Amino acid sequence: LRQKYLSAIADAADESALEDLRVTAVGKKGEVSLKMRELGRMTPEERQVAGPALNALKDEINSALAAKKSALEDAALDARLRDEWLDVTLPARQRPQGTIHPVSQVTEEVTAILADMGFAVAEGPQVETDWYNFDALNIPGHHPARTEMDTFYMHREEGDNRPPHVLRTHTSPVQIRSMQDAGAPIRIICPGRVYRADYDQTHTPMFHQVEGLAIDRDISMANLKWVLEEFFSAFFGTKVKTRFRASHFPFTEPSAEVDIQCSWEGGTVKVGEGDGWLEVLGSGMVHPKVLAAAGVDPNEWQGFAFGMGIDRMAMLKYGIPDLRAFFDSDLRWLRHYGFAA
Ligand code: PHE
Repeated sequence: LRQKYLSAIADAADESALEDLRVTAVGKKGEVSLKMRELGRMTPEERQVAGPALNALKDEINSALAAKKSALEDAALDARLRDEWLDVTLPARQRPQGTIHPVSQVTEEVTAILADMGFAVAEGPQVETDWYNFDALNIPGHHPARTEMDTFYMHREEGDNRPPHVLRTHTSPVQIRSMQDAGAPIRIICPGRVYRADYDQTHTPMFHQVEGLAIDRDISMANLKWVLEEFFSAFFGTKVKTRFRASHFPFTEPSAEVDIQCSWEGGTVKVGEGDGWLEVLGSGMVHPKVLAAAGVDPNEWQGFAFGMGIDRMAMLKYGIPDLRAFFDSDLRWLRHYGFAA
């Protein structure tokens, strides 16, 4: 009996085989237990010999079971340690990283520079009424600027008597909204998306402008020129001269188009050097009719406004020849200019 169980225990392959052995040997109805029950029917002499022998056998089997059980557990742990290893020296797998789009980067930069100069950031809707986009800016219904701007009109159902809406063609309607909200004096900029039905190397149907507006009692074109030269020098990181050319916008009087100094060498534009000029924005003194339309008394208040193309600024800063590439979401292009990892 002893030999049978001890060698079976030694050969047990796993814990459940071991448990089966425990039940058949020393369980309630196990072979050793049944033998112990027979002790009652023995003579005292027989019992004196068989009793201790059976008890010793039971102890021996129990400790053999316990020893084998812990040996099996150790082996199982060793096997897991062998199988479930992890090489912590492996280099981490590369994960693609998002980056800020160049137009967003430039918008943030432009905003930061002008905010430092005391302009608060304002916002307005991209779907605008034709009153804010045109009428309030002194562009009446028949004015050629309405068609020149290649306006996107929102579709209207028959019988819809809400005012006509357009995709704003410039950020200038935010001048009106800001003055209506805060009155004068006021100093704001408004960066944002604008829309015109136009498409070529330097025009996309959606692009970005930043509007500037400064209204107080004695603001002049001289203040405008100073603000712009400070701005361009900070933005391009070098002293940039500006040139004001007389122009016309319905919402400013007088009006000026502003050029920045640059050189053209072999097709690359360098801002802040040379004797070339590049047109970058429209500006002027806010027209009295515009102030009045926004509820600001033109006899008391005056000031300047400007509107600048943000994408144009990004093209100049990074030497990018085609505006459309900004909006193609082509990773190879973004990587080429260092805008994506
Ligand atoms: N709104 C004009 C445009 O989009 C730019 C502009 C803004 C001109 C403010 C003068 C004053 O072309």
